Amino acid sequence: MDKNLALEFVRVTEAAALACARWMGRGDSNAADGAAVEAMRKVFNSVDIDGVVVIGEGERDEAPMLYIGEKVGKGGNLKVDIALDPLECTNSVAYGRSNAISVLAAAESGMFLHAPDTYMEKLAVGPDAAEVIDLNASPEENLAKIAEAKGFEISDLTVVVLDRERHEDLIKRVRKTGARIRLIMDGDVSAAMATAIPGTGIDVLMGIGGAPEGVLAAAALRCLGGAIHGRLVPRNSGEAERAKRMGVEDLNTVFKTEDLAKGENIMLAATGVTDGDMLRGVRYTGTGAFTHSIVMRSKSGTIRFISTEHHFAKDPDYH
Ligand code: FBP
Repeated sequence: MDKNLALEFVRVTEAAALACARWMGRGDSNAADGAAVEAMRKVFNSVDIDGVVVIGEGERDEAPMLYIGEKVGKGGNLKVDIALDPLECTNSVAYGRSNAISVLAAAESGMFLHAPDTYMEKLAVGPDAAEVIDLNASPEENLAKIAEAKGFEISDLTVVVLDRERHEDLIKRVRKTGARIRLIMDGDVSAAMATAIPGTGIDVLMGIGGAPEGVLAAAALRCLGGAIHGRLVPRNSGEAERAKRMGVEDLNTVFKTEDLAKGENIMLAATGVTDGDMLRGVRYTGTGAFTHSIVMRSKSGTIRFISTEHHFAKDPDYH
C-alpha cells in the first residue's frame, strides 16, 4: 500500500465527520449515522483501491451501505480489506457529547479478524506497557504490572472504563487499587488509541465493548506501538453460534493485537466529530469548516495530526 493512500483515507473520514457533525445535539442518532455512512461511501468511490469491507455497518441484509462484503473504491490492482466505522459514538453526536470520531483502517487481504457483531472484553495500553498485559490475569495484577512498566505508582494511572452496569465489579476493583478512573459514556476506540498517544493522560482501557471496535483499536495500536488483548463475550447463544461460524472455535481465546490486525502494512485514519481527548471536533465557519484528523501507518510508525480547512464552495465532496 502506497504511503499517499493514507492521505486519501483522511479525505474519506473527513467527509464522514463533516456530514454527521451537522447532527450534533439534535437527538437523532440514526440520522447522524446515516449521514456519515452516505458521505463515507461517496468519497470512497474516488480512492484507487479494490477494497472490501470486512468490519462495517453490519450484515448485507441489515445495512444498506458499507455492509460486510461490500466493495469500495475505484477498483484497480490494489486489493485491500477495510475496517470502518463512519461514526463511532452515534449517541455522542446525537446528544452533543465528546469523543465521536469517524474512522477507517486498511490492511492487505485477510489481515483483519472478521469479528462478529458481539461484545469483547478488552485491555489496551500504550507502548511502555505493551509487553506486560495479560487478559487472563486479574485487573489488580495488570494494573500493578502496567504501573511498574511505566515507572508510575498505581495511583498515577488513569483507567478508562465504559460507564455500564456490567462494569460495576470492575470499577470497584480498579478503585480499590488506587488507580484513577475515567468513566466514559461511549467511544472505546478512541480511548484505546489514546492510551498510546502521549499527552492524552489516558493509560489503560479496561472492560467490555463492541468486538468490531476491538479490531479498529488493534489496527491503531499496531501503528502506535501499543497493545490490546480481547476475548469475545457473546450476549446470547445466537451470538456464540455466529462467532463459531465466523471461525472462532474457542470462545475463551484471547486475541492479541497481532491476531486482531495482522500483517506489516496497516493504515488508519480518523477524524474528530465531537471534541475528544485526542482530536478536536468539527467546527463550521459559515463557508466551510475545520477538521482535525490523525493518520498512521504501521510500516513507518509515522503518526500525523492533520488540521484541515475546508471550503465548501470549492470542494463538493465535503458539502
Ligand atoms: P456506536 O458507534 O455503535 O454508537 O458505539 C459506541 C460504543 O460506545 C463503542 O465505542 C463501544 O465499543 C460500544 O458502543 C459499547 O456498546 P454498548 O453501548 O452496547 O455498551
